[in-house]
Amino acid sequence: MSNDKLKELAAIEASKLIPRSGIIGIGTGSTVKFLIKIMSEKYQLYKNNQFVPTSLETEKLLSNGNLTVIDDFTGKILMDFDGADEINPVGDLIKGGGGALTREKIVAANSEKFIVIADETKIVNRLGKFKVPVEIVPFLHSKTLEKIESLGGITQKRKHGKEISDNGNILADADFGIIEDPGLLEREIKMITGVVEVGLFTNMASQSIIGTEEGIINKKYK
Ligand code: 5RP
Repeated sequence: MSNDKLKELAAIEASKLIPRSGIIGIGTGSTVKFLIKIMSEKYQLYKNNQFVPTSLETEKLLSNGNLTVIDDFTGKILMDFDGADEINPVGDLIKGGGGALTREKIVAANSEKFIVIADETKIVNRLGKFKVPVEIVPFLHSKTLEKIESLGGITQKRKHGKEISDNGNILADADFGIIEDPGLLEREIKMITGVVEVGLFTNMASQSIIGTEEGIINKKYK
């Protein structure tokens, strides 16, 4: 099966969890696009839902699919569905390949359940083969990158795809090799002044739904 087919299978499985009313977070990327497609094809079912998009791209896809978009509200986000670039056995993630890490983390952090959807190529034993995305403020950004390098990462400003985030900040990627302690590294990078967000999402996922050649792996973390 192609990776796209596995992503679609994960999205189909995830769509079964969406309640028929309430606020739902929607991530960014090709896996999430399948979920938006499924919902858009049956948008009447979701007329009592409001969706919080994690990027301008997702906002457009939701609106084009006749799904109601909101960007501020009182009340709670019942669940958030998003993809991942890597996922380890305890559900820690590297995210932000598509450059939406800051909004993705804000939505995930404010959701009662954060559900990761992906194909099996995203499963790893230890995080770090995929470079860690970081979003940094443009002002003195070279200094901020130097500080990230002092933690042992080799950084590179993005030169392909999305170079500037939806928030107007610089996107870069940091190669730390295999990461021994993802939680510690997440906190250390986040503490650097000038860093807006880091694409390590540790201890956040409630559940993952992974499309594999052998079927769906559905795993709960909390
Ligand atoms: C975007 C992300 C995506 O969730 C991640 O890159 C996975 O994307 P895809 O579903 O296309 O494999 O973090 O910022």
